[in-house]
Parts: sequence; structure tokens; C-alpha cells
Amino acid sequence: MPNLIVLGTQWGDEGKGKIVDLLTDRADVIVRYQGGHNAGHTIVSRGEKFILHLIPSGILHPDKLCVIGNGVALDPHALVEERDMLRNRGVTVDKNLRISDACHLILPYHRAIDKESEKFRGTRRIGTTGRGIGPAYVDKMARIGIRLGDLANPALFREKLEQNLAETNYLLEKLYTTHGLDAETIYNQTMALADRILPFMDDTALTLHRAIRDGKALLFEGAQGTLLDVDHGTYPFVTSSNSSAGGALTGTGVGPTAIDRVLGVTKAYTTRVGSGPFPTELINESGEYLREKGQEFGATTGRARRCGWFDAPAVRYACRINGISEIALTKIDVLDALPTLKIATGYEIRGKKVDEFPRRVEILEAARPIYEDHPGWSQPTAGVRNFDSLPDNAKRYIARIEELIEVPVTVISTGVGREDTVIRQDPFAAR
Ligand code: IMP
Repeated sequence: MPNLIVLGTQWGDEGKGKIVDLLTDRADVIVRYQGGHNAGHTIVSRGEKFILHLIPSGILHPDKLCVIGNGVALDPHALVEERDMLRNRGVTVDKNLRISDACHLILPYHRAIDKESEKFRGTRRIGTTGRGIGPAYVDKMARIGIRLGDLANPALFREKLEQNLAETNYLLEKLYTTHGLDAETIYNQTMALADRILPFMDDTALTLHRAIRDGKALLFEGAQGTLLDVDHGTYPFVTSSNSSAGGALTGTGVGPTAIDRVLGVTKAYTTRVGSGPFPTELINESGEYLREKGQEFGATTGRARRCGWFDAPAVRYACRINGISEIALTKIDVLDALPTLKIATGYEIRGKKVDEFPRRVEILEAARPIYEDHPGWSQPTAGVRNFDSLPDNAKRYIARIEELIEVPVTVISTGVGREDTVIRQDPFAAR
């Protein structure tokens, strides 16, 4: 069975949760590889809505193994809270969840720094989710991070915590002029959770290696989107991890030869949360319409998402960065009632026509989209399950997207439920 990476090709919120949940039937192991509880994956399963932030979306299928890889930043409180929520709703979270001992922990001082540094930046703030993600990854790269495995050695955990807080409290008190945090309190709070987390701890790279050796199908579930990738996104308005395909390797310890396909999840229009350039953004009634019809409010923070037309060079760029083999196009039904749709095919930047997505943010900020118009279909696509039943103009819209991004659209999502999907080619099928 092939191993598949599923990731977002825009600025997150493409509807990955539903696609992963749908494909989970065909996979044996579902793996998160980066990000943390800044992600919000909304899944509707048998009419019930679940919002997951940290645990892989595959958890709703009790017979699948779910893995949180070393690349994920793990907030112990968020994990326990999510596990309790799932258990209270009758979902099994037991031996079917494994967490890498090398996951870096998000601790209260990371959240404090996230909040204070955003305030400090003023108009250049990133608009983070405030979950402490950036500061936790900073500590990882600075080699002072605390990993899940450290909780198994309380004395070592305490020593690292005290050292880190000495530095962090200086920053909080002297630079950000706020109060510092107490090591003893954080130690006690974290250790109180340790007993509930450590049973899930595992050498997940080895577990995944064995699963691959045994011919199991692995599904790597990306969080955020390619344009939020710390290397390939619209830096500095990005998240602090590699949400692109490379992150699935470094964030799990699986080698590149194990990956067969990369499925890009793409919304039929564009949204973004937080600050940063967004050339096709609509600050008008059409943007409002997309927000209301598409229910474009953050699953994690509840923030209203910025909405705009489909940006073809941006998605083509994401296809290139990730080596995407096929696309799942989501939320096409949100466009049903619009008389005219626009697709950006390039940009005008300082008087010049540019076809490719600019990598530098100050250039992207100056980009004005060049649009082509497409007639709408004024007919419901909501709930359509086979391609031939889609209106002709919807088929043309999809065909034009395929042409512009140079990758086939093999899955089309026409609603929130698992069943509301057109599958033109099963991503897990033998080819
Ligand atoms: P952080 O990941 O909380 O540091 O936030 C950095 C940027 O990524 C901000 O613009 C957030 O709004 C954005 N972001 C983080 N996670 C998500 C997500 O799951 N969906 C969409 N945007 C996200």
C-alpha cells in the first residue's frame, strides 16, 4: 500500500481534516509531523462535529494507529484536554495513540513569550494563535528545549526548567516588563499531567519503520499550509515549523524513499488568518459572502478568516515545493450562488507582469493580481458525489485550475460530511 502525505497548499484551513478522515479508511497509521495545537481540524463524523488540534484526525477510527511525531510541539495541557474530550464523547484513545519521546514541550513560559513578543512587535505582529508555538520551536533550535522524554526523569526535567526560567524570566521582567513565572508551579502542574501522558510515549520513528516494513499504509497529516511553512512560506508571516512535505520526513524520522504520493488539499478560493500579504484578498461584500457562506472562522481561535479569490500561482508554487501528485479541491459548494468567479493567473508588480509566486514578502506585498473571469454555475453542487453530476461551469472552473497549477484534481469536496465527496481517483489505489 502506498504511503501518502496530505497537506495544505494555501495558508491553512483548506479542509484537511475532512480529507484525512475520509482517507483514513484506507490507511493503517495516521501521523502528525509538525505544528501543535495551533491547528484546528474540523471533522463531521456520523453527523457529529469534532474539532481536533493536536491528536491526528484518524483517532475517530478506533482500529487505526495514530502517531504524534517528533516534529510536533506538544502542550501537555492541550493533549490531556483533547484526550478527555474525545474519551467523554466515546472515542477510544488508548494504545491507538503513540507520541514521540522527542516531541518538544510547550510550557506556560512559551505562551507568555508568544503573547508578549506579539505586543512588542506592534504593527509588524504576526497574528499568531498565541499558543506558544514559535517560542517552543525557538528553544528547540537553541538546544534548550524540554522534550517529552525528559518528563520520565523528573530531576532532569526540574533542572532544565529552572535553567530555562532563569533566562525567560529575565526577558519577561526586564524587556517585556511583565511578571515572571514560578518554576515550582510549572514543575508541579506538568508532573501532575505526566502520568497521563507518559503511557503514550514511544520511539515512534521505530514504530513507523516497522509499520512500513510490514507493508502498512501510512498517512502523514500536515497542519497549517505550505504558505505558512517557515522556510517556503511568506516569511516572516508564517508558523515556526515545516508544514511542507519535507517536514513529514524530519518530523517523523521516516526516509524520503518511503513516501509514494503527496496529496495537496486546496480550497476552491483562498483564506488566511493572521497578518501577512494576501494578493487576492477581498475586502468587500464578496469577501463577506465567502466568509459567511464558507463559515470562515478559525477552528482554534474563532478569528474571522480573511477571504479572497483563487490564487493559481500561489497553489502552483505549493505544488512545486511539495512535489504534489494530486489535489483534493474543497468547498466548491461555497461558490454555488456566485454569478462570476475570478482566478488570479499572475500579478502585476511595480508595473511588470509576473507569472510566478514571489518568494520575498516585500515583493508579494506589492503584487496586484491579474484576474480572469469565469461564469458561475448558479446551481447547487452541495452533496454531489459524482463528477458527471457537477454543473458544466463547475467542471470548467476545475479544469482551468488543473491547467494553471499543472496538477490533476482527483478529489472534490462538496460538503462537510465524509460522503459529500467526488473521488475521481482514489489516492491510495494502486497505479
Ligand atoms: P502560530 O503558528 O501560532 O505561531 O501563528 C503563526 C501564523 O500561522 C499566524 O498567522 C496564524 O494565524 C497562522 N496559523 C497557525 N496555525 C494555523 C492553522 O491551523 N490554520 C491557519 N492559520 C494558522
